[in-house]
Amino acid sequence: MPLVTTKEMFEKAYKGGYAIGAFNVNNMEIVQGITEAAKEVNAPLILQVSKGARAYANHTYLIKLVEAAVAETGLPIALHLDHGSDFELCKSCIDGGFTSVMIDASSKSFEDNIALTRQVVEYAHDHGVVVEAELGTLAGVEDEVNVSAEDSSYTKPEDVQEFVERTGCDSLAIAIGTSHGAYKFKPGTNPQLRFDILEDVAARLPGFPIVLHGASSVPQNFVEIINANGGNMPGAIGVPEDQLRKAASLAVCKINIDSDLRLAMTASVRKYFAEHPDHFDPRQYLTPARSAIKDMVKHKIINVLGCDGKA
Ligand code: G3H
Ligand code: 13P
Ligand code: ZN
Repeated sequence: MPLVTTKEMFEKAYKGGYAIGAFNVNNMEIVQGITEAAKEVNAPLILQVSKGARAYANHTYLIKLVEAAVAETGLPIALHLDHGSDFELCKSCIDGGFTSVMIDASSKSFEDNIALTRQVVEYAHDHGVVVEAELGTLAGVEDEVNVSAEDSSYTKPEDVQEFVERTGCDSLAIAIGTSHGAYKFKPGTNPQLRFDILEDVAARLPGFPIVLHGASSVPQNFVEIINANGGNMPGAIGVPEDQLRKAASLAVCKINIDSDLRLAMTASVRKYFAEHPDHFDPRQYLTPARSAIKDMVKHKIINVLGCDGKA
């Protein structure tokens, strides 16, 4: 089976009350950990590549790794550009074999966001590729962009219909209180996603797939393992998993998770070196790291996304 777009995945997810996991990939072990988990529980997958990942690993290596994962698993897998910043980057990924791109013009004015998104949609659709756009601004860190909590803004439901109609985008990322990175909310606070906004957006866009970025939950046991083994991560908490599960049962069809995989991998490597200070063969410490990613992804698929058995 070749790489697929997200069209059919999202139609089924919307009707079935579940979401597809979009996991960021940067190297072979991450691709293998994610796809081995999905294979075991028969889940469809979105593997996404950021501008930074593409600079780190090289477009061709990433494409070949993902193609290898498709061949190994036989699963429906979409290859997606995460946070495309401009037309040229989106075009390069479309020309280079991606089946889905995000154009993130959420920091621009409403009219400029529409114009740039429309330009990407026209090119993408001519090439059989689907487009995710974003309205509203999430707090947190992504690539070189660092948005403070004060500069973040919730999506305005009254804007979404006009935006989708004028751009022709295939899915829409909205801001309802999630944020990027491992430092989302202060410990002791009680994060609450704005389900009122999600429900209002869904009512204005019946059947249309909604995307949530910044959806890691920052499991405290991993932060503790990192800090117990030479790390120094300040306290932080993430998005409660029960709230993500609820979002997945509503209009949210794609949930982006990166930081939790980073935490799982880093905790594993730090623990390994603390226990085996004399080891230096990368295969020795990357084997448990890959398993840690696999366990994390399996947990997300079964307990958060609900897409197990849906491939
Ligand atoms: O939202 C951003 C993703 O976590 C990707 O992060 O740009 O550091 O690769 P990155
Ligand atoms: P997290 O940092 O919460 O994992 O979000 C990842 C993301 O939104 C990628 O686009
Ligand atoms: Zn994101």
